[in-house]
Amino acid sequence: MRIALAMLIYLNALFAMEGKEVYEKKCASCHPGYISMSKLKENFQDYNNTLLKLTAPTLNQLSYRLKKSIGDPKGDNEIHRMEVAAFISEYVLHPDRQKSLCLDEVMQSFQTMPSLEGKISEEELEAVSTYIYDFDEKVLAEKGVHYEGFEKALQKAKQEDKIIMLKVMTKDCYFCRKMEREVMIEKEIVEFLEQDFIPVSIDISTTELPLGLQTELTPSFIFIDKNAKVLLNIPGAWNKMDFLDILREAKTKQR
Ligand code: HEC
Repeated sequence: MRIALAMLIYLNALFAMEGKEVYEKKCASCHPGYISMSKLKENFQDYNNTLLKLTAPTLNQLSYRLKKSIGDPKGDNEIHRMEVAAFISEYVLHPDRQKSLCLDEVMQSFQTMPSLEGKISEEELEAVSTYIYDFDEKVLAEKGVHYEGFEKALQKAKQEDKIIMLKVMTKDCYFCRKMEREVMIEKEIVEFLEQDFIPVSIDISTTELPLGLQTELTPSFIFIDKNAKVLLNIPGAWNKMDFLDILREAKTKQR
């Protein structure tokens, strides 16, 4: 049993590895890897792509857009994966601007993708599709904010004299997801949080808030000091600059 499991994990890792290789060999010359959403927005909205001079959507844009726009993202994951993979395979062999899913304001900067028909095998397409599908989540896990459980966070807050940042969310809340992808992954935010805060994330559709706290609004950010006293309770989704201000404000309330 254990050997079978080890084999499975090994094979999965092998597959992921291959997907990355295929991407680097056959896609990366045009599609860059990860670029943060704030940079991308600045580039496309303020600079008409003259800042980054991108030649095609980035890997994180592809991963996010395709998963969001194809089929039912909240439905069966295996089916969703197959639908996204089918779209990618079809697009790579027969690129068609009419069918593309990235935002128009992004797409208008690009030439039409040349077909890779005859230059990529079915196995390679399958591997690269898996890699693209998983990329968005992988980047978030690697670069994004890491959350603790509340009890542990309170202990740590006492020991390290830090503030707990309690994020109130639900799995299906669009603005929670958006903020996670666009703000909770920005280097300055992640570093500020790491230094002075202990982030906790609670899904109020499944879990009660600690300390008898109540809120229906998601996302909400409740800042709590080491004595379990609420310093600040801020509902809403914020951009990077505004959220940095909120973190600074929470710091000024700390004694
Ligand atoms: C020579 C440059 C080039 C290469 C190589 C390339 N692409 Fe593209 N691709 C583009 C451009 C430019 C666009 C955007 C314009 C368009 O849709 O034709 C695009 C669009 C796409 C889209 C559609 C995005 C949407 O919004 O619907 C997918 C999917 C895609 N590429 C996947 C791949 C994959 C997978 C590979 C590697 C196996 C690859 N591309 C290799 C240039 C390239």
